[in-house]
Formats: sequence, C-alpha cells, structure tokens
Amino acid sequence: MSAFDTPPLDSTPFSTLIREASHEQHTEAENSVFMSDLLGGRLGREGFRRYTEQLWFVYRALEAPTSLLAGDPVAGPFIRPELARTAALERDLDHLHDGGDWRAALRPLPATESYAARILEVARSWPGGYVAHHYTRYLGDLSGGQVIRGTAEKTWGFARKGDGVRFYVFEDITNPAAYKREYRARLDAVPADEPEKLRIVDECRRAFSLNTAMFRDLGAAMAV
Ligand code: HEM
Repeated sequence: MSAFDTPPLDSTPFSTLIREASHEQHTEAENSVFMSDLLGGRLGREGFRRYTEQLWFVYRALEAPTSLLAGDPVAGPFIRPELARTAALERDLDHLHDGGDWRAALRPLPATESYAARILEVARSWPGGYVAHHYTRYLGDLSGGQVIRGTAEKTWGFARKGDGVRFYVFEDITNPAAYKREYRARLDAVPADEPEKLRIVDECRRAFSLNTAMFRDLGAAMAV
C-alpha cells in the first residue's frame, strides 16, 4: 500500500472515519445468527424479551454516568436527554413481563456484564472512549433500530410504537435523518488530535465486538 491509498486523517471527517472503520463489524452484527434468528421470529417473543433485558444493563451503564460527563468538552456535547433510553426500556420490560416484578431476578449474561463494565470504565477515565460507545449504540438505534422495531411490531403484535418497542421510539426526535446529521457534525467537532481519534475508532470496534459477544451469549442462553 502506498501513502496515497489512504486519505490523510485530517481531510476525512471523523464521522466518516468511524463509520467506515466499523462497517465490516456492522455487517457482522447485523447478520449475526442471533439477530437473524431473532428477527426471523425463530426465538419467539421470549427471545425479544431476553434481548431487551440485556439492553437494560447496557443502557444503565451508558446513562448512569451522564451527569458526570455532561460538562466534559469531549463527551458533554453527546449527552442529550432526548436520547435517554433507560425509562423506555423499563416500560418495555414491564410490558414484556406482563406487569410482573422483573428487576429482582434479572441478571446480566457474562458478555453483557463485561460490556457494561467497559462502558463504566471509560465513562470514569476516558471521555473519548465513552463517545465511541455512545456512537455505537445511539446512532445504531436511530438507524437500524427502526428496522428492528417494525419487525418486532409485526412479528409479536406490539402496538405501533407502543409498549414493548418504546426503546426504539425517540419521542422527542421528530426528524431522525436531520438528528443524525447533527450527531455526525458533533462527531466531526470532537476536540481530539489524530492519535486520539484513532483510539476512539479502535474503541468503537471494541464496542461492536462487545455487542457481538452479547449476541453470542444470548444465542447460547436461548439454546438451553
Ligand atoms: C438487524 C440488525 C441491524 C440492522 C437491520 C441495522 C441497520 C442499519 C442501517 C440500515 C443503518 C444505516 C442508516 C443510515 O445510513 O442512516 C445502520 C447504521 C448504524 N448501525 Fe445498524 N443495524 C443493525 C444492527 C446494529 C448493531 C447491533 C449495531 C451496534 C451495536 C449497529 C450500529 C449502527 C451504527 C453505529 C450505525 C450508524 C453508522 C453511521 O452512519 O455512522 N447496528 N444500521
């Protein structure tokens, strides 16, 4: 490869860099056995419930530290109340458990535990790393999440944008395409030098791997 094959980092918007760097892993996650089985209806409503349960641990880790990060120059601009998902997940879980008490018995799968621990670790020590995790989940939810919602509504009969799929509904974002453009502009404006941007991209790849590992654990848990 010659030096001319790759555009210099400073001429590539960071939002493009991070998208392109995770493209292959995105395809892998999208086509994972668990996602295909889930959205193909083969894991039933129970599969969807178990997936939603694991997401609850992930979003609690993403959202518990937001007040600490709100004033940070790197992570702060990403902390937005309209993205918060924990309350919506809790409503979905109330519905998926038919109003029963689900909190006491719920446990993260080992891969979910590692994923949540990594999010909390970067939230404490490395705002750029937190941004990588934020991007991987929230921009995904605003994009492919909408495909998942439509399939879930059809497959398991949830009310359109209602209980069960509220996680996928961003009530306060009226124009998701415009919102994603703004989000990418925030990525492009991240105050970080080139080595730091490359570390953030690496953490994004790690975030995708942590998701894929969670899917593997979920698939294994459904098989027993
Ligand atoms: C069946 C599962 C999935 C489907 C159907 C799907 C579909 C999509 C689609 C269509 C887009 C492009 C939207 C656009 O260009 O505006 C997208 C973007 C994205 N997805 Fe997924 N996705 C899935 C799973 C995932 C997973 C598991 C993750 C990570 C946890 C993820 C993270 C992302 C991210 C970060 C983007 C934004 C890329 C960018 O523009 O920078 N997706 N997804």
